[in-house]
Amino acid sequence: MQTTDFKITANKAITKDVYELTLSGNLPDITPGQFVNIKIPGCYLRRPISISNWDNEAGTITLIYKVVGEGTEILSRKKPNHSLELLLPLGNGFDTKLTTENTLLCGGGVGVPPLIGLAKKMLVEGKSPEVVLGFNTKDEIFGVEKFQALGLEPRITTVDGSFGIKGFIIDALKTVNFDYVCSCGPVAMLKAIYSFVPQENAASRGGALEKNSEIGGQYSFEARMACGFGACMGCTCMTKEGYKRICKEGPVLLKEEILW
Ligand SMILES: Cc1cc2nc3c(=O)[nH]c(=O)nc-3n(C[C@H](O)[C@H](O)[C@H](O)COP(=O)(O)OP(=O)(O)OC[C@H]3O[C@@H](n4cnc5c(N)ncnc54)[C@H](O)[C@@H]3O)c2cc1C
Ligand code: FES
Repeated sequence: MQTTDFKITANKAITKDVYELTLSGNLPDITPGQFVNIKIPGCYLRRPISISNWDNEAGTITLIYKVVGEGTEILSRKKPNHSLELLLPLGNGFDTKLTTENTLLCGGGVGVPPLIGLAKKMLVEGKSPEVVLGFNTKDEIFGVEKFQALGLEPRITTVDGSFGIKGFIIDALKTVNFDYVCSCGPVAMLKAIYSFVPQENAASRGGALEKNSEIGGQYSFEARMACGFGACMGCTCMTKEGYKRICKEGPVLLKEEILW
């Protein structure tokens, strides 16, 4: 982990409330799913944002963030050439060694950004994932073209049916063949995916829906954070293997260790 000043090279709205921020500076080694903790002038606590993408040659990282409160509002007004102090890289990230040839990436809302870097790394490793992205409505959709630029065609769900499949991410899963999942988004979405049982599996068990042990996975969780690097214990949660800090042993937890 390092504290480094990064210079803003671009900070532009990509939907009404979602911004793409590109920063240049000294890049450490990054694992997809890791995050930065940004010092925002005027805010006491840093704000954690996932690293969406990075370019070692250009020395840039890209963050995609939604304006939800004071910190992200201040961030959205920062202009190119401003500097920001970042703590990075934080957290464990996704372990691509555990992913399979039939991996599904599921992202809901601002859970989509880390999956872009994850898809890129998986493709470099010769694995071409399926991608399902969920949003509330058509106007909130972002990131699709980033996956398309990698040669992937995400399936989109919207809660109001204004684009793609009507409903939640879980409503699209029946149409995809997968045996492993990497997911990031709201807890309710993560829990629904965790509990998803393909129809044929349910039928073969005489209709008894039990937890789907066949589909392994990695789930990225959010928590309110202070330090972001394991010192304050503020983000601790209980897992099947005892207490874990979402900022340090997470944010990505393996299916086997999750306790809802
Ligand atoms: C590991 C990690 C990665 C994240 N990655 C992204 C990302 O890539 N893009 C993105 O847009 N957001 C991401 N977030 C969420 C982001 O940190 C918060 O939205 C941000 O800190 C809000 O700051 P604020 O000052 O604008 O809002 P605040 O004024 O602090 O809060 C506004 C509202 O957002 C809620 N909120 C704030 N922080 C969190 C949080 N950590 N978890 C849940 N609810 C929160 C508050 O309860 C409140 O309702 C991530 C969070 C974590 C922990
Ligand atoms: S935020 Fe301090 S230990 Fe996780």
